[in-house]
Amino acid sequence: MSTYILGIESSCDDTSAAVFKDEEILSNRIANQDVHKSYGGVVPELASRAHQQNIIPVVDQALKDAGVKASDINAVAFTRGPGLMGSLLVGTSFAKGFALANNIPLVEVNHLHAHVLAHFIKEPDGDNDHPEFPFLCLLVSGGNSQIVLVKNYAEMEVVGQTIDDAAGEAFDKCAKVMGLPYPGGPLIDKQAKEGDENAFQFAKPRIKDYDYSFSGLKTSFLYFLRDQIKFNPDFIEENKADLCASLQKTIVDILLAKLEKAAKDLKINQVALAGGVSANSGLREGLLNLAKKRKWKTFIPKFAYTTDNAAMIAVTGYYKYKSGEFANHEDAPFSRVVF
Ligand code: KG4
Repeated sequence: MSTYILGIESSCDDTSAAVFKDEEILSNRIANQDVHKSYGGVVPELASRAHQQNIIPVVDQALKDAGVKASDINAVAFTRGPGLMGSLLVGTSFAKGFALANNIPLVEVNHLHAHVLAHFIKEPDGDNDHPEFPFLCLLVSGGNSQIVLVKNYAEMEVVGQTIDDAAGEAFDKCAKVMGLPYPGGPLIDKQAKEGDENAFQFAKPRIKDYDYSFSGLKTSFLYFLRDQIKFNPDFIEENKADLCASLQKTIVDILLAKLEKAAKDLKINQVALAGGVSANSGLREGLLNLAKKRKWKTFIPKFAYTTDNAAMIAVTGYYKYKSGEFANHEDAPFSRVVF
């Protein structure tokens, strides 16, 4: 008999609900929050208010899209953390209420595990190729930059991670310095396509093992621009595409150098990308080139599953449901990273 899972995601600024029939996606609805654009970043208080407004219509629409009723759902999976506490509380409270009202089990999901397991979402007409265990996953988003050794659906080990800013944060903060709106990552990616990636050189960090650091790059980028503007106030406007291309190349080189080292040392030849920054075209191209050189098999998620979405929560919830891992109604969300 099939299992129907409702997934709920509300960890940051996207309210999302998805319905799955076993590992197969039936629907995935996302309500983005435009309210943060004018602030240059996500405002936690506004995010939780918007989740509270969006959650019922989003779930309602996801159920309708899937052609199922609330009473058909066998379990509800929700993001327990990490994320913004006020945002997590909305999804967590909704999931608990839904589980109680329908007398079904509740499954808690770690948002970071879900990003990794997004590779296992099955689509009715997709090729549904997915990595075999063990594999390495480069998880890069606005809040995280990690190299994860994925041993199975439940066991994941962080072998390297950022000691300060995340890669997405580096993109967004450098974009802000150039006067681009939030989130600047996709805008840098777009501009980079028109520029010369070797036009400018920025310092790369020397960090131990497989760890990352991006705060030094952000500072050197800021100081470089400040010095140039002294001589030419229009420097940024005149060189925007080259600046974007050179910055993107630096971030991608930093990310891939550690990934290459980890894969070599751990003797892994299946490598996946996950998280919002995996939409970056320079990173995708760089990974494919490296894969050719290293004879890796690579997995790059569909764009819709790279950013925050409930489909990845539902598929992770499905595996936990199958192994009987249920949450308690007393379980509180957690805001900090607990892998
Ligand atoms: O996983 P995600 O949706 O959620 C958060 O961690 O909040 O990732 C969002 C991050 C942002 O920093 C955004 O600038 C970055 O992913 N991002 C990109 C691209 N698309 C999204 N960065 C570089 N190039 C892109 N194409």
